[in-house]
Amino acid sequence: MPLHSTHSFAELTEDDLFSQLDQETLPRHVAVIMDGNGRWASHRGLPRIAGHREGLVAVREVLNTCYRLGIPILTLYAFSEENWNRPQAEIDLLMTLLEKFLLQERQTFHERKTRFFPIGLLHKLPASTQELVHTIAQETEHFTDRTVVVALSYGGRSEIIDAANRLIDDMQCGKASGRVQEAQFERYLSTAGFPDPDLLIRTSGEARISNFLLWQIAYTEIYFTKTLWPDFRRRDVLLALLDYQKRDRRFGRLPHGVSPQNRL
Ligand code: IPE
Ligand code: IPE
Ligand code: MG
Repeated sequence: MPLHSTHSFAELTEDDLFSQLDQETLPRHVAVIMDGNGRWASHRGLPRIAGHREGLVAVREVLNTCYRLGIPILTLYAFSEENWNRPQAEIDLLMTLLEKFLLQERQTFHERKTRFFPIGLLHKLPASTQELVHTIAQETEHFTDRTVVVALSYGGRSEIIDAANRLIDDMQCGKASGRVQEAQFERYLSTAGFPDPDLLIRTSGEARISNFLLWQIAYTEIYFTKTLWPDFRRRDVLLALLDYQKRDRRFGRLPHGVSPQNRL
């Protein structure tokens, strides 16, 4: 079925957008850089934390939409390693909000048989946050069909360095040997066992990666939207998915539809 351009989607209702989706080619793994909470708040003359609080509405909406669509893996960038450089008061409020959110969502993870899988330098989180994060991760670790990965105190570079160091340790004690292979190295990353994201969404108009999943996004389709994270809704998820479904994922090969005669 020919798809509309993103521009003409603007006129369509959510139900129309939904019906345009090809259920067969939905991404298996969607990752999101949830950005723009502070700007959302400052546009309204509110403190930044009001934007973070409203951002949780968007998180729920994306969780629900991906669940209904049957997208098995959703990875949310909630707090970067670099975010530790923010004022302590903002960090404290963010951690409190995160704990509240996890307590509220805990039951839903169980009901939806969803694994909660935190990644990042979790030992840097406040003790109460660490405890809750580890508890919910343990409680849900037996769920295999659906996973919500939450990147907390996460940095892509340190993840790669950490993987390299653990591989060196294993080589030194004889658990690993030979020259390093990609598939072997991936097993040392925090996302080991998960497929790479098919689609990465970044909100707020910034067109950068901000140290997120550097290894894993080598061939991910990237969707940048100006929408600020607290305004991001089901409709925005559908628009991102429709845009993704228009892309030709070539992985270095020739475009689809190029006839063999035209290949040379
Ligand atoms: C994203 O929103 C949330 C976190 C990084 C924790 P920001 O807080 O970065 O909002 P802006 O980018 O300043 O608008
Ligand atoms: C990226 O947003 C991190 C998260 C969304 C958690 P930032 O707001 O921290 O990124 P920069 O500083 O604009 O690159
Ligand atoms: Mg930001």
